[in-house]
Amino acid sequence: MNILSEIACSTTFYSRPKPGLRARQLQRFCVSLKLQKNEMSQPVEGFSKLSKESKIRFIAERYTAHPEQTENLLRQYWNTDARLQQLHDEFIENTLSNFYLPLGVAPNFLINGELYAIPMAIEESSVVAAAGKSAKYWLERGGFNTRVLGTEKIGQVHFYFPGNREKLGRFIEAVKPILLQDAQPITRNMVRRGGGILGVELRDKTQAMEGYYQLHGRFETRDAMGANFINSCLEQFSATLLREAAVHPALAGEPPLEILMSILSNYVPDCRVRAEVSCPASALEAEGGLSGPQVAQRLVQAVQVADCEPYRAVTHNKGIMNGIDAVVIATGNDFRAVEAGVHAYAARSGTYRSLTGASVEDGVFRFWLEVPLALGTVGGLTTLHPLVRLALEILGKPSAPELMQIVAAAGLAQNFAALRSLVTVGIQRGHMKMHLLNILNQLGANEGEKLAMVAFFKTHTVSHNAVVDHLKTLRSGT
Ligand code: MEV
Repeated sequence: MNILSEIACSTTFYSRPKPGLRARQLQRFCVSLKLQKNEMSQPVEGFSKLSKESKIRFIAERYTAHPEQTENLLRQYWNTDARLQQLHDEFIENTLSNFYLPLGVAPNFLINGELYAIPMAIEESSVVAAAGKSAKYWLERGGFNTRVLGTEKIGQVHFYFPGNREKLGRFIEAVKPILLQDAQPITRNMVRRGGGILGVELRDKTQAMEGYYQLHGRFETRDAMGANFINSCLEQFSATLLREAAVHPALAGEPPLEILMSILSNYVPDCRVRAEVSCPASALEAEGGLSGPQVAQRLVQAVQVADCEPYRAVTHNKGIMNGIDAVVIATGNDFRAVEAGVHAYAARSGTYRSLTGASVEDGVFRFWLEVPLALGTVGGLTTLHPLVRLALEILGKPSAPELMQIVAAAGLAQNFAALRSLVTVGIQRGHMKMHLLNILNQLGANEGEKLAMVAFFKTHTVSHNAVVDHLKTLRSGT
C-alpha cells in the first residue's frame, strides 16, 4: 500500500477513497479533502501503526505550510547509521526524528579529592561555562566535599478498606512474610546485588480520606534507579493482598479490600546527598568593589532571601537544577522524576525554600546543598544510549551513590556561580556574553564576523541591539 492510501485508509480525517484509485488520483483526493476545514479538525486513528515515512508525510501535510521542507528537516536530523537511528526510533512511539541537545563537559571538578570532567546535556548558553568556572574556582580552594545521606526509595500500594481498622492491622502483620515471600522471584537478583525490600508497613490515611490506607514499602535498588523493580514488587504486593484478604481469618466477615493503584514514589527524602564547599571568607575573590568577606556576607544573605521568599526560592532552585538536570540527562536518568522529588523536598516545611544553605562562622565561609536524588547507573538508557554510556565512562563508570555526589556537586557549583554574579556584578554580563553566539547565529553572521564580534564584545556590554548595531557597522566596513 502506498503512503497516501495508507494514510487515507488509516485515518478518519479522510473519507475512504473509492477502490481502484491510482496514486495521483489518490493524492488529489487527499489534497482536496485536506482543504475541507471541518474534516481537518477530526482526530486521527491508527497513527501509531503507520510507517515512520507515512507519519512524517501525514504530519508535514496536515500541520505544516511547507511539507517538503518539513520532511527534509526531519530527515536532516536522522543519524546516517541506520542501526543507531533505529535504536533512537524505538525509545518512544511515533518517532519522526531526533531532537538534539548540546552535550558539553565541565572539567576540573575536584570532588572528595578526585578530579572529574562532568558531561552536561543542556541548551542554555551559560550553564556549562558557569559550572566550569565554579569548578575551577573551588579547585583552588579545596574542592567539593560530598556524602550520601541515604539511598532508600519508596513505593506504595494505595487501597480502600471500609472495615475494622484493628483487624486490618492484624491482617497486614500476619501477611507481611507472605508478601515478601511472593515477591522473591522479583527480588532475588536485587538481593544478590545487596538490595531488595527494606520493609513494608500499613499506613492509616483515613484522616485524609475515608477508608484510605497505604502499604508503604521501602526499597534499596543499588545502582539501578529501580522504578521497574519497585513497581513490579508493588504489583505483586497488591495481588498477594487481594488473594490473602479473601481467605484470611483476621478479616472474616469484613468488607472486601479494594486496591486503587500500586506505584513508586518520586519523593525520596531518604535517598539524599549533600555537597559542600568551604574556605576562609577572605579567600573569596574580591569582586565588583567588594572584599572577600563582603562577598561572603552577601552570598549568605542571598541564600537567606531564597530561604524566606518563595518567589526568589523558585529561581534560586531553578539555577541549581540547571546543573543537576544537565548531568541527569547526560547520564540517561529521569530528570522529571528528579525535578518532582527535589521541588517537593524544597517545600517539605510547608513553604518552598532554598535547597542550599550558607554561613560565615569564625571567618569561614560554608556553602552547601542537600537534595534527594534517585539515580541509576545500570539499566534503562544507561546501557542503551551510546552517548550516555560515554558520559558514564568519562565519569569513571560511577556507582549510583557516586553519581548522586557528582550531580550534587554540579548543582552546588551552578548555584554558587549564579549567586556570585548576582551579588557582585549582576547576571547579565556573563549571561549575554554566552548568548552572543546565539544572537550572531540568528543574524546569520559568518565565521569571520563572529571572531570580530567576540573580540569587540570582550570590552563592550552585550545586548541584542548592541550586537545588531555593531554587526551592521562591521558589514558596512565603516
Ligand atoms: C538562569 O537559568 C538561572 C538563574 O536565574 C539562577 C538564579 O537566579 O539564582 C541565574
